Amino acid sequence: MISQNTIQEILSRIDIIDVIGEFVKLKKRGANYLGNCPFHNEKTPSFTVSPSKEIYKCFGCGKSGNTISFVMEHEKYNYVEALKWLANKYGVEVEETFVSQEQKEQFQTADSLFIINSFAEKFFIDQLFHTDEGRDIGLSYFKERGFREGIIEKFRLGYAPEGRTVFTDEALTRQYNKELLLKTGLIAERGGQLQDNYRGRVIFPIHNNSGKVIGFGARILKTNEKAPKYINTPENELYVKSKILYGSYFARTAIDKADECLLVEGYTDVVSLHQAGIENVVASGGTSLTVDQLRLVKKYTNNLTIIYDGDSAGVKAAVRGLDLALEEGLNVKLVLIPDGEDPDSYVNKVGASAFTSFVQTNKKDFILFQLELSLKDIGADPVKKSELVNKIAESISRVNKVEDFTKQQDYIKQSSHLLGIDEAGLNALVNKYIRDRLTVQERKLSAATPDKETAAKGEAGNFDDTTFDMLFKDQLQERELARILLEYGHRSWEGQTLIADYIFNEIDELDIEDKEVSVLVHAVKELLKSRPELFNDKYFIYHEDKALSTFVISLLNHPYEESKKWVDKAGQNMGYQTSLFQQGYDAFVRTVADGNEEELNQYKLISEDKTKDIIISAIRYLKLKKIKRMLLQNQQDMELDKKFEKFAELHFIHRSLKDMEREIAEQLGTVILK
Ligand code: CTP
Ligand code: MN
Repeated sequence: MISQNTIQEILSRIDIIDVIGEFVKLKKRGANYLGNCPFHNEKTPSFTVSPSKEIYKCFGCGKSGNTISFVMEHEKYNYVEALKWLANKYGVEVEETFVSQEQKEQFQTADSLFIINSFAEKFFIDQLFHTDEGRDIGLSYFKERGFREGIIEKFRLGYAPEGRTVFTDEALTRQYNKELLLKTGLIAERGGQLQDNYRGRVIFPIHNNSGKVIGFGARILKTNEKAPKYINTPENELYVKSKILYGSYFARTAIDKADECLLVEGYTDVVSLHQAGIENVVASGGTSLTVDQLRLVKKYTNNLTIIYDGDSAGVKAAVRGLDLALEEGLNVKLVLIPDGEDPDSYVNKVGASAFTSFVQTNKKDFILFQLELSLKDIGADPVKKSELVNKIAESISRVNKVEDFTKQQDYIKQSSHLLGIDEAGLNALVNKYIRDRLTVQERKLSAATPDKETAAKGEAGNFDDTTFDMLFKDQLQERELARILLEYGHRSWEGQTLIADYIFNEIDELDIEDKEVSVLVHAVKELLKSRPELFNDKYFIYHEDKALSTFVISLLNHPYEESKKWVDKAGQNMGYQTSLFQQGYDAFVRTVADGNEEELNQYKLISEDKTKDIIISAIRYLKLKKIKRMLLQNQQDMELDKKFEKFAELHFIHRSLKDMEREIAEQLGTVILK
C-alpha cells in the first residue's frame, strides 16, 4: 500500500549501520560491525552487521535479516509500520497507492478515531487532576486503591465526570464528527440526545503497541449498582477485543527481558503489578484467550504464565482453548492466587518480592492444572473420566513438538498418577495420538509433492542414501544458482545481456525442484519484465514477501563469511565463490586454520576469476540432471514399447542423450565443481 517509489526512496537512503546503531552499540570489525545482540542476552558480542550486504546475523541466537526486518523485529512492527518508521527517520514522504476506496475510508476512519481517542484521553486526565470533582472522586478513589500519582500518570488514567454532557459538549465544540464520536463509544445517543457514555467513572485508556489509544475501559465507582462494573469501547476500526492485551505497550520491553509474559485478568491487576515493579504483565480482560492474543504474546516470548484468582470464573474461560497455545509452541504455566485475593490485592498485601516468589514456586504446568481442574468436575462418572483420559493424552501428545521427550514422559507419569491409571497405558494412548497426527501429516505431504516422490523413486528405486545424497546436492546446486542470480544477476554477461537473462535462457524454470528457488526465479523473471531498473543485488533482501526475503537472506548469509576467526586474516574479498560448495568451504576453512598462505592465494584466485565458470557449471549441472531424467523416461518407454521401429527411434534418442550426458559430465569435471 506504500508506493513502490516511496519504498525505493526509503531503501536508497537507509544505512543499516545507522539504523541498527540506534539500538545497538556497534564496533567496526574488519569489513563488518559487531555488537551485543539485542535479541538475546549476551556478554561477548556475536551480533554481526554487514554494511555491504545490508544484512545482520547473530551467531549466538541465529537471528538474521535486513534493515527492515530488524526494525520489525526490534520494534515489533509489521512491514508497513517499519517502512513508515524508516521514512520518518530519513525524512521520506510516504506516498500510498493501490488503496481501494473502502480501505481508504477505513484508514481515514481509523485515523479520525485515533484523534478523537487521544483528545478524550487528555480530557479525562485533565478532569482527574484539574477539577474538584475529579480530584475528590476519581483521584481519591485511585489513591484509596493504593495507586500512586506516578503510576496513574504512566498509565494515563483519567476520570469521566457525572454530568450528562460534559465530554459531549467539549467534543462538539471542537467539531468532531458525530458519527465518529458514536463509533468511539465515548458518546451515546439516547432519546435523540447525544450524551456522555461514561459518567462518574474512572478511565483506563487502552493503548496499541505504539502507545496510541485504541479504546477505554471505564470502571464504576459506586458499589451495589445495577450498572455494569466496566463499560468498554464497542468493536470498531481500532478496538478489536480479540486482538488486545491490555498493558502490552508498557510491558513489551520487560517481557523481552524476562523472557516471560505474566497474564492477569484485569486493568487494576496490571497497574498494581507495574507499580510494584513487576512490569512484564498484560491483561486479557477476563475472557478466554484468543489465538490472536497468543500470537501477540509469542512475538515477545514463549513463556506465558497465567495468574488468576483462585475462585475466578475466568480461570476456566482462560484455560479453554489453550491447547492452541501448546501448538503455537507456548510454554504455558498457571498460578492461582489464594484466599479470595486477586493479583492486584495480593501484591498490595504481600509486596513485590513475596508476590514474585509465590508465582515462581506455585506455577503449575497448564496440562496438569487442567487435569486437576477437570478431575474435580467429573467426580466418579466413568464415561466422563474416559473422555478426560483421552483429552489429556491428546494434550500431552501435542507437547511433543514443543518440548523435549523427558518433559512428555514427566507429564505421562504425573497425569497417570493423578488419574489413577496405568502409566504404560497412558503412554500408549499418547503415542497413538502422535501417530494419528503423523499419518495425517504424511498423507498431506505426499499429496502435495507427488512428483518429487516419484522422481526420487525413479532415479534410485527407493529412497536410499544415494538418492538422499543426490537430492541434497541438487538442492545445494539450485540454491547456489539462486545465489548467483541474486548477487550477479543484474550484471552483464560478456558485455551483452544480463547474467540473469543468460541464466534464464539456459535453464528451464520447470526443471528447478527446490520450491523456494523456483519462487525466487519466478519473482526475478517477473521483476525483469515489469521493473527491470529495480533489479540489483539488494532488491530481494527487501522484498515484501517475508518468506522470500528470509530465503534470500539465508542464501546471502554465509556463516563463514562473518566468522571472525579468519575474516580478519583472509580479508573480505574472498568469501564469495569458495562458498559455492561445502567441500570447498571446508577445505578453505582448513587452509585458513593451517595458515597456508599459498593455498590461501589459490582460493583467492578462484574467487576472483571464476564467476563465469561457476555460473556455467551450475547451469550444466541442472542440464545434466535433466538429461538423466530424460534418459530414465526413455528407458521406461523402451521397456514398454518393443516394436522395432519405435525401439530404434528410442534407442537413437538414448544414444544422443548418453553423448550429451558424457559431454556435460566431462565439462563439469574440468571446473571446481566436484
Ligand atoms: N471486565 C469487563 N466488564 C465487566 C467486568 C470485568 O470488561 N463488567 C473485565 C475488565 O477488563 C476487568 C477484568 O474483566 O479488568 C477483570 O474483572 P474484575 O476482576 O471484576 O475487575 P478488576 O479490574 O480486577 O477491578 P477491581 O479490582 O476493581 O475489582
Ligand atoms: Mn481486582
